[in-house]
Amino acid sequence: MTLNLSQLDLGALAAENDTDLVDYFLQTEAFTRVFAAKKWLVLGNRGAGKTAIFSYLAGLRNREAHVVQLAPDDYSYELASDILARELSGAWQKGAAFSAAWKWLILLLLVKGLAEPSVKSRRSAAGHLHAFLRDHYADMAANPIDTLIGYIKRIEGVKLGPYEAGIKARKLQQLFKLDEFVRIDADIRACLQEKNVYVLVDELDRGWDASEDAKYFVAGLFRAAVGLNQSYPGLHVLVSLRQELYHSIPMLYEDAQKHRDMLETIQWDENSLKALIAARIRRSFPELAETSDDEAWDAVFSTELSYRQTKSFNYVIDRTLNRPRELILFCSLIRDKAVERQSAVDYSIVAAAERDYSKARFEDITHEYRFQYPGIERVLERFRGALFRQDRDEIETHCCELILDGVGGGADVWLKELSDPGELIDILWEVGFVTAYLVGGQKGVTRSGSQYVGSYQMPTLPLEGIQTFRVHPMFHSYLGLKEK
Ligand SMILES: Nc1ncnc2c1ncn2[C@@H]1O[C@H](COP(=O)(O)OP(=O)(O)OP(=O)(O)O)[C@@H](O)[C@H]1O
Ligand SMILES: [Mg+2]
Repeated sequence: MTLNLSQLDLGALAAENDTDLVDYFLQTEAFTRVFAAKKWLVLGNRGAGKTAIFSYLAGLRNREAHVVQLAPDDYSYELASDILARELSGAWQKGAAFSAAWKWLILLLLVKGLAEPSVKSRRSAAGHLHAFLRDHYADMAANPIDTLIGYIKRIEGVKLGPYEAGIKARKLQQLFKLDEFVRIDADIRACLQEKNVYVLVDELDRGWDASEDAKYFVAGLFRAAVGLNQSYPGLHVLVSLRQELYHSIPMLYEDAQKHRDMLETIQWDENSLKALIAARIRRSFPELAETSDDEAWDAVFSTELSYRQTKSFNYVIDRTLNRPRELILFCSLIRDKAVERQSAVDYSIVAAAERDYSKARFEDITHEYRFQYPGIERVLERFRGALFRQDRDEIETHCCELILDGVGGGADVWLKELSDPGELIDILWEVGFVTAYLVGGQKGVTRSGSQYVGSYQMPTLPLEGIQTFRVHPMFHSYLGLKEK
């Protein structure tokens, strides 16, 4: 069967732009646990599928519950910093203020979702909530984050206001304890028995500036969610967060250790990724509707590449960190090249696509880690033209040189802090740049054959015992890495 590859539509790279996602959404185990409300803090790397889970969940829940999606374009971290800058550091209970403000905002959104304006319901709990909103929040800001900042400003107003100490303390107490909601608490609970409410908070990393206030902002949301999820049955606050961001917020990370049971980390394996892409292929080509994942893949991307008789799927997946967005990107680029050259997919097509793919991934990854390791692109660039497989001695020597000589730019700040080459290897491993050779192999981690694993496959692997490393194949093309 010859397929017209220009008809292959693999969908958008970001779930929020994919209007057809419901047609080929894959109900992974991670999704199932989040759907069952067993887990509510969803962690995942860039492009792992956080938004996909939330948007599919929202679609399903919309039928029986009220769903609020918070994914502002920009969380105005700068705005928050601006307000807080005015307070002397230390005196300000930032953590408490942010979590109170988040709680307040979420309760307000909850009340809005439950309130009913009709005359019939005037005496009902939903009617009370409507009256409450009308009387107190008629002129509320339309943007939820502005509303939240507004509450923080109120707290600040009291702190800086000309009040006598006792009164000030009482007023603050009222704001921190959200006194205004106390009298409608019974109504909220009554309504929640009839109708569940889901509040989904996604894309918290947009506008992220790694400032302390941005961290308090996210940590405050987390605390608010813990509290609200526990105290209001029927209310489900779900939050998604990029994995490395989670690890870089100490006040959140420490808190979350106590609540590990609500944490879901998105991870993909090769089979589920194949299923993901096969579903998209089948949708584009109805004639493949009855095919297996392997057959659907082979029909488009051919089974074997002339290059060392590698299976094309293995070749492609080996050049990803097992994230759906990478796979969709690489496959889309291969399709484009094939269409351009009016040829079926073969190694030369894949290699041509790989040049663009590898460059794009290099840029994305270095961008992704720009706050943790600013200027890391210069460090990675220094591997240009090197051998892709390096023994421990070789890579240590290389890393030593980088630490001692520096690479210029922002990276030197953190390079200087490293006390031995092993620490740089750890960083290269963490960001997915190097993989480790496992002696004896560990079945079940990678497809049979590959002895190399990356941190995305075995995050806790101790590197001390590893004798051979390989730069991740994703970077080979762009950096022109060579085989011995
Ligand atoms: N379970 C799934 N089924 C089908 N497609 C998925 C699934 N999960 C993710 N995808 C697809 O993978 C791509 C990346 O997913 P998504 O945009 O949700 O990532 P993300 O984790 O939100 O990334 P970012 O951190 O950049 O916001 C999208 O094209 C999305 O449609
Ligand atoms: Mg997203």
